[in-house]
Amino acid sequence: MNTVSTPTAVPATRPLTLTERPAWKALAAHHARIGTVHLRQLFAQDPQRGKRFAAEGAGLYLDYSKNRITDETLHCLLALALECNLPQRRDAMFRGDTANSTENRAALHTALRAPAGEKIMVDGEDVVGPVHETLAHMGRFADAVRCGAWKGSTGRRIRNVINIGIGGSDLGPVMAYEALRHYSQRELTLRFVSNIDPAALLEATRDLDAAETLFIVCSKTFTTLETMTNAHAARAWVVQALGDDATLAQHFVAVSANPEEVAKFGIAPDNRFHFSDWVGGRYSMDSAIGLSTMVAIGPENFQQMLSGFRAMDEHFLHTPLEKNLPVLMGLIAVWNNNFLGARTLAVLPYSQYLHRFPAYLQQLTMESNGKHVTLDGQRVAYDTAPICWGEPGTNGQHSFYQLLHQGTRLVPCDFIGFCRSLAPLGEQQNLLMASFFAQSEALAFGKTASEVAADGCPNWLVPHRTLEGNRPSNTVLAEQLTPASLGALVALYEHSVFTQGVIWNIDSFDQWGVELGKVLAQRTAVALESPAEPAPAPAPAPAQPQPQPQVHDSSTHTLMQRYRRLRKESP
Ligand code: F6P
Repeated sequence: MNTVSTPTAVPATRPLTLTERPAWKALAAHHARIGTVHLRQLFAQDPQRGKRFAAEGAGLYLDYSKNRITDETLHCLLALALECNLPQRRDAMFRGDTANSTENRAALHTALRAPAGEKIMVDGEDVVGPVHETLAHMGRFADAVRCGAWKGSTGRRIRNVINIGIGGSDLGPVMAYEALRHYSQRELTLRFVSNIDPAALLEATRDLDAAETLFIVCSKTFTTLETMTNAHAARAWVVQALGDDATLAQHFVAVSANPEEVAKFGIAPDNRFHFSDWVGGRYSMDSAIGLSTMVAIGPENFQQMLSGFRAMDEHFLHTPLEKNLPVLMGLIAVWNNNFLGARTLAVLPYSQYLHRFPAYLQQLTMESNGKHVTLDGQRVAYDTAPICWGEPGTNGQHSFYQLLHQGTRLVPCDFIGFCRSLAPLGEQQNLLMASFFAQSEALAFGKTASEVAADGCPNWLVPHRTLEGNRPSNTVLAEQLTPASLGALVALYEHSVFTQGVIWNIDSFDQWGVELGKVLAQRTAVALESPAEPAPAPAPAPAQPQPQPQVHDSSTHTLMQRYRRLRKESP
């Protein structure tokens, strides 16, 4: 007789947290076994390690062999990626699903470099067509400025372009401009003003002629205090030099997702470049926010940069996880952070042109993954984003590398270098790259006490001159710094950050943490401007735990009083 089983109520199960996942547990057990293994040993065991632990894509070569990992580490990390649904989450992001759940929107920076003709739908509408319309709008404007057809209000050609913006509306543009200076039109002077410190605008404009100066005001919201304050001050500077407000049309353009605020500022619709709300500020350097980049390097080079982004997108989408550069970098970052206990990541480009790249990556990595709750609002039981910092080599070698080699902290490093210099002068490129290769080698292998002693070092000095080694690093090597390789490099980090965010189960696309500071600053500014002394906060009574909105704690109050007094007394 057949028995028909009646469905029984399935007990509600909650999804596993990260630390409950089998692959996480396997990684913890694996770490307990190999935690102290030395890179010397790993390289000695496998003469092919330097070749095997490397991958290539979009013109970038990634050597990850100098990390404290084995085949088993990689196997467990890749299993973790699958358990966390990385491929599904990646595909959903590219498709335009709601990747940014706390702000209920897509994170579609990849649509910014999608080829014309491709269709990506958001709320039932294709977004790729409008992206290409904006690119065409940017191209017409950039060409007009570059060839001198765009004139200032007195009829003189524009020679100076000042980008006003902050965060993602500044860091990407300034980084890209510095990185691609070699490709830029040298007759144009480009400057970037982000800080609300009046010194920033003053220094950027003091030697310029307003008649030859054009401002690009970049702000997704067009309400950011720093940007709008600087934009108004810039307008006052232009009006003071050139007369009435009618001159503004030739001296101000805007990049924004907020047409109403742009119009209120007085910029005509034709001079507004569109920015969609599904582009996060820190993912926007290849959107219209890159207008200053396009003016500097021209539309063709900008297209080349987009093709580099696209090549890395394709690589991330289609390459098996074990050969996938952003996946490998992201997973190794998780290993270093969560199992080896690293607290920071040093980014060390061996290229002077990339001197703003670490600052750019700080926002990309820390604003994205500096989160302490999971997507479902639970406090994480593990560390998330490490602190990202860095400087170009070789400068850093004569500054903080001492700590990297012999300090008590483990600092994983990303070395970024290029085979061909854009500024070939004598032997300098070889000397630069000799340091590039030597530093990661020294970090990995160090110098043992017996090697130091064998050099004739007196015994008492041996401990001081010994380098333990076993310090992990990645090496990213490209042929040359070009618009395309820069695009691929940025996309590599974007997708590595995404990979880490998926593993940590956090929203990599929101930034609620910066909001409180903004609100408090607005409130404090009112108090600083007011002629009346601000009232100190009463000691919080138990029945009344919330301080009144217009008062400050005793520390802030005392500091503000001191500021007000000294401000008045200054000459
Ligand atoms: O600091 C927070 C932030 O919202 C960043 O994410 C953003 O890049 C920056 O401010 C600037 O914002 P906006 O482009 O709207 O001026």
